[in-house]
Amino acid sequence: MPDKILPVLTIDGPSGSGKGTVSRMVAETLGWHLLDSGALYRAVGFAAGMEGLDLSDSEAVTRCAQTTKIAFHDPGDGSETRVIVNGMDATDELRTETCGAAASAIAAIAGVRAALFDKQRAFRKAPGLVADGRDMGTVIFPDAGVKVFLTASAEERAKRRHKQLKEKGLGVTLAALLREIQARDVRDAGRAVAPLKPAADATVIDSTGMPVERVVAAVLELVRKGRD
Ligand code: C5P
Repeated sequence: MPDKILPVLTIDGPSGSGKGTVSRMVAETLGWHLLDSGALYRAVGFAAGMEGLDLSDSEAVTRCAQTTKIAFHDPGDGSETRVIVNGMDATDELRTETCGAAASAIAAIAGVRAALFDKQRAFRKAPGLVADGRDMGTVIFPDAGVKVFLTASAEERAKRRHKQLKEKGLGVTLAALLREIQARDVRDAGRAVAPLKPAADATVIDSTGMPVERVVAAVLELVRKGRD
């Protein structure tokens, strides 16, 4: 089984479910590589914005996805990975709600998803990969040994995001965030290509009210069991 040689753990779920933090902590514990696939979609959304493209112009945005150069740079000092888009450090811009909404819009375009397919598969390297996204277990790594679908109530996800943004000094109201998260959920789950849904063989973890350490422990336990 290829998975025994190059193990992949997929962690899919809606925005704000804690996927990013959990994936990073699990990857660190296991010493595995990490794929933040959302950053790729955000990078394409950002590049399309920089080019002044109409985000509903599928052809132009697909071309943009095919030509945009995206690189991840680990500073190596424990600080966060920088995302370089067409030679420019766009890490801070990618995290904004504007980029998140742009990513969600362009992610519905089949050509964009196709353009990012091989880029994502290339992250599968020894000793293993933790892949964080929406369709990691269903489309990109259907043969992954362990698949997790991480979720939480929309209210809890909005609260977590609100706290994060407040800590960064960004002023957004909780009500506005809840509306944005609910709208994005509907778009991500309702789109024709790679809609957000748990893989048939995924373990669903609802992290509402659960401290992140407990979620990490639960995921690590699944990996341990998967190895037995
Ligand atoms: O996870 P993150 O919030 O960074 O993702 C931004 C957007 O990119 C999501 O709302 C989703 O529409 C899209 N996305 C996707 N498939 C992935 C990862 C992200 O469609 N694997």
